[in-house]
Amino acid sequence: MNEKTLSIIKPDGVAKNLIGDVIKRLEEAGLKIVAMKMIKMNKEQAKGFYKVHEGKPFYESVTDFMSSGASVVMVLEGEDAINRYRELMGATNYKEAKEGTIRREFAQDIEKNVVHGSDSEETADFEIKYFFNEMEMTPR
Ligand code: CMP
Repeated sequence: MNEKTLSIIKPDGVAKNLIGDVIKRLEEAGLKIVAMKMIKMNKEQAKGFYKVHEGKPFYESVTDFMSSGASVVMVLEGEDAINRYRELMGATNYKEAKEGTIRREFAQDIEKNVVHGSDSEETADFEIKYFFNEMEMTPR
């Protein structure tokens, strides 16, 4: 099924100059970037984005981290895009991520794990609308 998913290159990925590397992997995998921008979230915006994790032990820390610097947000489109992008990222905990995945190669810990990706169609819909309006979505 043709799907859209939200990708974030997190502040650690941007700080380590990994934007080009991550985008190269997405493009080589055949995922189309249909929207993209660089942003810096404030704490409230990061809390709104990760609302689903409210109350979890890492909520304060991850929202501090996500509001600590610039991120690149993108909408990716393609056949089975949600799962294909998750395969490219690897597991949330880089220690459990497969060899060759983005997180396995570049993450420094479970929080500073370089990239984010939506985990379902419902989440993708919420996350895409959180950052992009209709005019910013460019059919290709
Ligand atoms: P992400 O896929 O963006 O979803 C939630 C984020 O919280 C996760 O990546 C990590 O950056 C961060 N995080 C920190 N600790 C944990 C944890 N124990 N489990 C899941 N996510 C965590």
